[in-house]
Amino acid sequence: MGILEDKANARLFYKYLSQVYDRVNPFIWNAEMRDEALRELDIDSTDRVLDVGCGTGFATKGLLQYSKNIHGLDQSAHQMKRAFNKFGRTDDVKFHRGDAERLPFADDSFDAIWSSGSIEYWPNPIAALCEFRRVVKPGNRVLVVGPDYPDSWLFQQLADAIMLFYDEAEAQEMFETAGFVDIEHHIQQAHPGTPRAITTIARAPTASDTVDTSVQQQVGDPAVAPTND
Ligand SMILES: C[S@@+](CC[C@H](N)C(=O)[O-])C[C@H]1O[C@@H](n2cnc3c(N)ncnc32)[C@H](O)[C@@H]1O
Repeated sequence: MGILEDKANARLFYKYLSQVYDRVNPFIWNAEMRDEALRELDIDSTDRVLDVGCGTGFATKGLLQYSKNIHGLDQSAHQMKRAFNKFGRTDDVKFHRGDAERLPFADDSFDAIWSSGSIEYWPNPIAALCEFRRVVKPGNRVLVVGPDYPDSWLFQQLADAIMLFYDEAEAQEMFETAGFVDIEHHIQQAHPGTPRAITTIARAPTASDTVDTSVQQQVGDPAVAPTND
């Protein structure tokens, strides 16, 4: 497990990175990539949408082009402070300080869930994805952007020491284990030679979907105490 796949380490990291995040971020995750991914989520103007690991609000700003009912959640007070400065605390975006692995929302309470650039910090991504499945309405979609696994052995060693980097096979396994269906992956890249992003879109099953429940029973649902927001 990489050094930043630890919630306290990630909070400390973002205490400092938040100061330059909006200037550094576009080199690997820019507005064109975000907007291309947003089109895939197919958000309706009346949708209630959750942005997990919203950070300074880069993707939140894109989500607002589609719906004015956005909820942003992040575990870093420093990142969220910058988001408050952009959007206010209670206007079109409702902010929540919290953990992706223990979402403070009721079952089936969102029409869509978005998360970009955050999964790589979660110590238990499958627990978080199970939470996504719990709070998104059955039949509806979630989209997660994370770092694609590098090709070269040297970068693989470096990547593994820092955080979660994963390929399509691992993404497929994580989303299937969390109980999602209709799972698709796309690779995105800002410029040749820069790190690639892997974007996964999946649908929460309805009663008519056949899901392999034996896999989920082995994993177990995360120990969460859902609350209404
Ligand atoms: C690279 S930033 C991404 C920000 C934004 N989504 C974007 O697209 O630019 C990653 C964010 O994930 C947040 N994060 C990391 N671990 C988290 C967790 N367990 N729960 C909630 N947020 C988390 C960090 O605090 C940080 O703000």
